[in-house]
Amino acid sequence: MMHTFPQNFLWGGAMAANQVEGAWREGGKGLSTSDLQPHGIFGERVARQPGDFNIKDIAIDFYHRYPEDIRLFAEMGFTVLRISIAWTRIFPQGDEEQPCEAGLAFYDRLFDEMAKYNIAPMVTLSHYEMPYGLVSNYGGWGNRQTIVFFERYARTVFERYRHKVKYWLTFNEINMSLHAPFTGVGLPENSSRQAIYQAIHHQLVASARAVKACHQIVSEGKIGNMLLGGLLYPLTCRPEDMLEALQKNREWLFFGDVQARGAYPPYMARFFKQQGIEIAISEQDNIDLREPVDFISFSYYMSGCATADKTAALARGNVLDMVPNPHLPASEWGWQIDPQGLRLLLNMLADRYQKPLFIVENGLGARDKAEADGAINDDYRIAYLNDHLVQVREAIKDGVEVWGYTSWGPIDLVSASKAEFSKRYGFIYVDRDDQGNGTLARRPKKSFWWYREVIKTQGASLSQR
Ligand code: BG6
Repeated sequence: MMHTFPQNFLWGGAMAANQVEGAWREGGKGLSTSDLQPHGIFGERVARQPGDFNIKDIAIDFYHRYPEDIRLFAEMGFTVLRISIAWTRIFPQGDEEQPCEAGLAFYDRLFDEMAKYNIAPMVTLSHYEMPYGLVSNYGGWGNRQTIVFFERYARTVFERYRHKVKYWLTFNEINMSLHAPFTGVGLPENSSRQAIYQAIHHQLVASARAVKACHQIVSEGKIGNMLLGGLLYPLTCRPEDMLEALQKNREWLFFGDVQARGAYPPYMARFFKQQGIEIAISEQDNIDLREPVDFISFSYYMSGCATADKTAALARGNVLDMVPNPHLPASEWGWQIDPQGLRLLLNMLADRYQKPLFIVENGLGARDKAEADGAINDDYRIAYLNDHLVQVREAIKDGVEVWGYTSWGPIDLVSASKAEFSKRYGFIYVDRDDQGNGTLARRPKKSFWWYREVIKTQGASLSQR
């Protein structure tokens, strides 16, 4: 019986520039869509006024404090760290001919720091943000010119970091644009499905062009897509519910199908027809799309159910609205906890794509309370992560090729949905609250020592509960 993970399995954590870096106006950085969303990806968008408050302006000040944070990650034994590049640090408005050297130099310093500890960087090109200049002047991803700007950005960073970064991801949770169009594709929230799918098409073409550029520029580079793993079960075994679950799962698998297979899947033709959607696709687009990703990466926090019963109440989960599963417990934020779902999802994606998989987000958002002596005993987080990792190991035993696991938010950071600080994911506590008070000091939680042991023993210390 195998109790350990493969020797070359990559262990680490994942975060996004806009949720950790802060320094929103330093180093020539331009205004990003995230800078205009002080209440998170679903919150109201604001025009920035001098002196107004956005917790992400400082976030956890990773921009200045990264040496300390990387050292702590190294202490846990990380072999990989997923970060994202803020596009606006490299092309502040988005449409410049030349990149911003100060922005490029920042990520050089960051990658060099990681290299000191042999931590491999995994870099997302766009994680829930884009230059606001491209939204206000061009209409975001609604305009196919954005493809050209994105490709310029991608080629710039591939060239610059080709000796330092081997793992790349294109768009974070690319399927979420259907639910949060401003964050995903820079379109107004009330945009029509027609407009959103057209913007998504442009983004899919841009993703494929970035894959091609990576293959040309980064020798031994591996580039993946990134899906929000929105696994849905049929609420009952009624055939109508089965069909509904199939169709709802296809809503997000569609993105993976295009990115892994290089063409639109046939089922979309009927879907578009029924919805009255007509996408403008050029011959060149079809050629560009034929550049499949090397591996599939995804986030997984929860599962949900689908039903043909239109009166069933929905619950807001991780971006998606889902019908709650009566058999599962939920976190304080109502996200249903389903470790076995991760094994199912890994198997399902392996069957579908026959490509290596990478779990690039998984974790529990919770309120942490310090004991009198300051200790944070986050046993709930340990239990969540333990149970999910046990299921990853089961999937590997099932024959699934999994390259690695990066838990979400290895250090506390600003949450994406509502820009809260009190919803914490980290192994490392950061002294800051929702109002922005605190010293930003870091300290390990109980889970820090637990994860360190898991990595050290290659999973042998996990408890099969
Ligand atoms: C994923 C995102 O949807 O979920 C992250 O890629 C996000 O950016 C994470 O932080 C957890 O969501 P939240 O809202 O709890 O921060």
